[in-house]
Amino acid sequence: MTINIKDIAEKDRNSVLHPFTQLKDFASGKLGEPTIVETGKGIRIQDAYGNQLIDGFAGLYCVNVGYGRTEVADAISRQAYRLAYYHSYAAHTTDELAILSDRLVKMAPGKMSKVFYGMSGSDANETQAKLVWYYNNLRGKPTKKKIISRERGYHGCSVVSGSMTGMSFYHDHMDLPLPQITHTGVPHHYWGANPGETEREFSARRAVELDQLIEQLGPDNVGGFIAEPVLGTGGITPPPEGYWEAIQAVLKKHDVLLIADEVITGFGRTGSMFGSQHYGIEPDLITVAKGLTSAYFPSRPRSSARRSIRCWKTGPTGSAPSRMAIPIPAIRSAQLRPTPYSTLSRRKICRGTPAMLAPISRRSSRKNSRNCQSSARCGVLA
Ligand SMILES: Cc1ncc(COP(=O)(O)O)c(C=O)c1O
Repeated sequence: MTINIKDIAEKDRNSVLHPFTQLKDFASGKLGEPTIVETGKGIRIQDAYGNQLIDGFAGLYCVNVGYGRTEVADAISRQAYRLAYYHSYAAHTTDELAILSDRLVKMAPGKMSKVFYGMSGSDANETQAKLVWYYNNLRGKPTKKKIISRERGYHGCSVVSGSMTGMSFYHDHMDLPLPQITHTGVPHHYWGANPGETEREFSARRAVELDQLIEQLGPDNVGGFIAEPVLGTGGITPPPEGYWEAIQAVLKKHDVLLIADEVITGFGRTGSMFGSQHYGIEPDLITVAKGLTSAYFPSRPRSSARRSIRCWKTGPTGSAPSRMAIPIPAIRSAQLRPTPYSTLSRRKICRGTPAMLAPISRRSSRKNSRNCQSSARCGVLA
């Protein structure tokens, strides 16, 4: 299809509200024309001027299997003919939903036992906050509601997830963050270490700061801690040595749920299937999104540990996702089987590098996950 570039650019300028764009300069034309991306194949995209570019960032770290995978498109099409939609409210399901969920739970880090579906990473993190609040209400701890996030952490840009995000330009002029969300120090050794401080010493200091923050807020008021296994948008930086070990000890001490935001580390991006497996993290809740569907359609299953599931079984879940019929066969047929194209954060490779293009063998994923899967199943994927 040949498009009229001038016409598309004008329509876009007049009608699209672009995120992360200086709107005034864009509207006035000062920023130049919009970049119109037309096609994609493998690791490359092509713009409307015919320029071929390697998409090193894989979209917004989401096209894990690369562009133009016809088996994904075919699976979506087949399912659209078979059953375009059905919801999962009131114990309704589809064969595809049940099979995918079973597969996700089995491939996720040790504790996960249930999957809850939605439409985006931001949406999933909103739900994570509600699950933490719900869990603590059900077990008679109605004040244990604050969620601690990290400075420079990124968890989305909706109301709760935007509050979790620890960068002020996501908050300014938006009346965020919400009072339920508090931030602790960023685990960035290069920027944050004192002179001569080793990675281990720096990690221990961050853990002490977290401990002090929880004490200051009151352990009975802190319900959850959310973090990306690898700091993403806030720096694309792997954690310093000993960080996760030290942080998890503090969370355990204060009975605080750990939410691992695996939106960009899930599905092979670190060399393990999940970042949690790579760094020995044992989350109670896991957020996944992007890589699961490779952005061929939006989705965000969230997974939870049995620890919280036990409580939820005593009450209904008030918010539920619905649109999963088309996506699921596509995920099953393509996304969970192939060798993903891009990795984000192999510790030694990726310092300062946005997205690596390297095949990850399923064998190495399995090996890594075996090393870390020690505890009994008791968590939730969202
Ligand atoms: C770690 C992390 N969590 C959540 C999100 C939000 O996901 P979405 O853009 O699907 O809302 C992102 C997006 O980049 C992310 O990197």
